[in-house]
Amino acid sequence: METAGAAIIDDLRGAGLSVAKGAVPEPLTGGVSCDVWKVATVDGPVVVKRPLEQLRVAADWHAPVERGASEVRWLRRARAVDPRMVPEVLAELPGYGFAMRFIPGAPVWKDELIAGRVDAGFAAAVGARIAAVHAATAGDAAERDAFPTDAMFRALRVDPFLLYVAEHDAELAPALRALAADLSERKIALVHGDVSPKNILVGADGPVFLDAECAVYGDPAFDLAFCTTHLLLKAVWLGDARLREAATAMVAAYREGIGWEEAAGLLLRAGKLTAALLLARVEGKSPAPYLTDPEHRRIVRDQARALLLTPAALDALVANWKRTLK
Ligand SMILES: Nc1ncnc2c1ncn2[C@@H]1O[C@H](COP(=O)(O)OP(=O)(O)O)[C@@H](O)[C@H]1O
Ligand SMILES: [Mg+2]
Repeated sequence: METAGAAIIDDLRGAGLSVAKGAVPEPLTGGVSCDVWKVATVDGPVVVKRPLEQLRVAADWHAPVERGASEVRWLRRARAVDPRMVPEVLAELPGYGFAMRFIPGAPVWKDELIAGRVDAGFAAAVGARIAAVHAATAGDAAERDAFPTDAMFRALRVDPFLLYVAEHDAELAPALRALAADLSERKIALVHGDVSPKNILVGADGPVFLDAECAVYGDPAFDLAFCTTHLLLKAVWLGDARLREAATAMVAAYREGIGWEEAAGLLLRAGKLTAALLLARVEGKSPAPYLTDPEHRRIVRDQARALLLTPAALDALVANWKRTLK
């Protein structure tokens, strides 16, 4: 800890940032793929994020380099779309880390939802801002070339969330494999890849998006589906109807922002992806840690399996989502 902290301070100084005298990097809670630290500078606190060399979930993936670099690229691209929606990147650091401005007084959205503070207006802003990034990057060959991360997306998203379940469920395998192939091939816009309430801060100027390590040029329906999945799982877990209302508001606001293709097609793809992601969170490699109650898992599994066999557009899926099954 001591030496890692000193190295971080050296790196920040090397990048021209004025680290405060006597500053000690403070670890922030986060995932298993990165070190995340808060460090005081004379211009205010910054966050330093550095990808770990080896990613446990994809040990054979050879490119931690791209992971850190693509996160920075996504943050910068999103900032050009709407500067309120991401922290400002201040410097890139050795080891493919980077420093960004710390957003003060902004709780993690997941914690707010769990505490019962469910704001449909905020959810709508999440949908609108994600759609804005998709709209700004749709059909852009240069953007596509800037994110050569298809292999990473496959290893961290397609394989664990879609294909793993296919291997264990013969009835659903054809639908899941078709979905995986479509997701891998569809190149429409810049996708964040991890739009989860745990990666969104509730900022004074609306949602702030973090943690774009899975960014890829791909199907924008994935981001909408990924976030909707989290809200619907939490609706079952917490038994709170307002979480479904939040999902409704998010999807409606996102829909307003679709300008690059027909909304109906995107919402159907998002509906299929949401069904698959819901199932993956009860049957897959990374089950939702809070869905431990077997009845909750059954509620999610039964609805998700039915939706994979008979797909629904995302708006209809959300409207019909049940927190209990009689
Ligand atoms: N710029 C920032 N401002 C405020 N808090 C931040 C910032 N960046 C990260 N955090 C905090 O650190 C946590 C982990 O950051 P994140 O980028 O999601 O990394 P991980 O890959 O470890 O999940 C976030 O949930 C948030 O609480
Ligand atoms: Mg995170």
